[in-house]
Amino acid sequence: MMTEAFVSKGQATSFWSIVRADIARFSEEEPGLRPIVRGVMSQGFQALFVYRVFRWCYEHRIPIQPFRFLVERFTEITTGISLPAQARIGKGLRIHHFGGIIVNSEASIGEYCTLYHSVTLGDLGGWGGSPHIGNHVIIGAGAKLLGNIEVGDYCHIGANAVVRTSVPAGCLAVGVPAVVKQRTRYADVDHG
Ligand SMILES: CC(C)(COP(=O)(O)OP(=O)(O)OC[C@H]1O[C@@H](n2cnc3c(N)ncnc32)[C@H](O)[C@@H]1OP(=O)(O)O)[C@@H](O)C(=O)NCCC(=O)NCCS
Repeated sequence: MMTEAFVSKGQATSFWSIVRADIARFSEEEPGLRPIVRGVMSQGFQALFVYRVFRWCYEHRIPIQPFRFLVERFTEITTGISLPAQARIGKGLRIHHFGGIIVNSEASIGEYCTLYHSVTLGDLGGWGGSPHIGNHVIIGAGAKLLGNIEVGDYCHIGANAVVRTSVPAGCLAVGVPAVVKQRTRYADVDHG
């Protein structure tokens, strides 16, 4: 059983507590079992769960290639979501909707972030590093975050933004190329 501690962003956290935090995000809008069942059956959660298992194996240096390669390719085909085991993703990630989500293996995502469909966290074309996303960040549909940039905690990235520069904590980044603005609305759920 995967109950041993594993290291995520410098913190020891058990596999199942991370998965529980992922699942808990489905109760944000509506309490009860229904949103959880619907969420667990979503492609976003399926891709994330596969990532969590392979990340656990990766951190424990369990050699499972070429099995991992085959399952990751199958997951990409069926969910349209690519989350390589080398990428660091904090607990409580929520992926809304199907497909088009690509996360570079050098990218990192903090805790309690939200990704909509067609988000790319990538390099500049084989060079230039990858984005590092803070905690509680919401990244809108179609947004592309490229290169070695940092997005601070509680930022919102607008739908279809192309972000090439770092975004300070608590800001909005919108447009192409993205312009940084101060956030004026704060309606976030405070995740534990
Ligand atoms: C970025 C976002 C979170 C901002 O929401 P907000 O905090 O309510 O901000 P506002 O609507 O007050 O907009 C602030 C400014 O950013 C601009 N803006 C907001 N979203 C933008 C976007 N996606 N592209 C370009 N400009 C945008 C607004 O026009 C406004 O400009 P102004 O300061 O010149 O008036 C939201 O607009 C957004 O894009 N969310 C993504 C949601 C999504 O992907 N949904 C998919 C569901 S399937």
